[in-house]
Amino acid sequence: MRIAVFDSGIGGLTVLRQALTALPDDVFIYYADTRNAPYGVKPKAEVAAHVLAAADFLADRQIDALVVACNTATAVAIQALRARFPFPVIGMEPAVKPALEQNTGKKVMVFATSLTLRASKLDTLISNLGQGHNVSRRALDRLVTFAEAYEFDTPGLRAYLDQVLADVPWQDYESVVLGCTHFLFYRRLIQAQIGPDLRVLDGNQGTVNQLVRILRPLRQRAAASPKSPRVTFYASGNPETPARVTRMLALLSSSY
Ligand code: DGL
Repeated sequence: MRIAVFDSGIGGLTVLRQALTALPDDVFIYYADTRNAPYGVKPKAEVAAHVLAAADFLADRQIDALVVACNTATAVAIQALRARFPFPVIGMEPAVKPALEQNTGKKVMVFATSLTLRASKLDTLISNLGQGHNVSRRALDRLVTFAEAYEFDTPGLRAYLDQVLADVPWQDYESVVLGCTHFLFYRRLIQAQIGPDLRVLDGNQGTVNQLVRILRPLRQRAAASPKSPRVTFYASGNPETPARVTRMLALLSSSY
């Protein structure tokens, strides 16, 4: 089957990596909306329009499913996408539910973009779980910009993390939820900052599991897709440059 994976930039590669492992016989289109990244600091209506335009481009490429590998895009456009296309659309959900299910009374911190934190979807999720008082939120928008500049461990990045996390009383917390796919590249640095006792959760595997589940009954009637290339990369409607493809492939096989 042919599966599209979409993000504002390289964050969705963290989802693609897990999808490639879970679905060894399928082919993928990866779309980074680099012209319009970062999404998280823009108005909701503007981001929703960018997401729909990208999805229209992907819909023209005979895809069997669309994975919105971006929490921000999911928060602002998932319903519109599902209403617009006949194929399944799978989104991201910050892993607040698993964090709270194993909660022992301490607090949970959600890191996400400003727009994800503003969108009502996250508030609905948290209030449905009935533990709003136990959940804190913090916007780490600049991590998206650092990742897009391939700054994964630089003095400027470390200074930013020190500055935005220094005032949190981590002894009151038991877990951190990475509610933006770009943030997974910083998992180790974040863990070092908050200490080894806190769990760091993300929603990637949940999304990939959902993709596998949804595709299963559709396999019989799907047209056979050519096995190669395994992943085709696009940036805002154009083929990715060879230099960026090389870097993206390196990220897919790196450990972070
Ligand atoms: N990877 C996107 C997310 O999961 C980043 C959003 C942005 O471009 O700011 O939210």
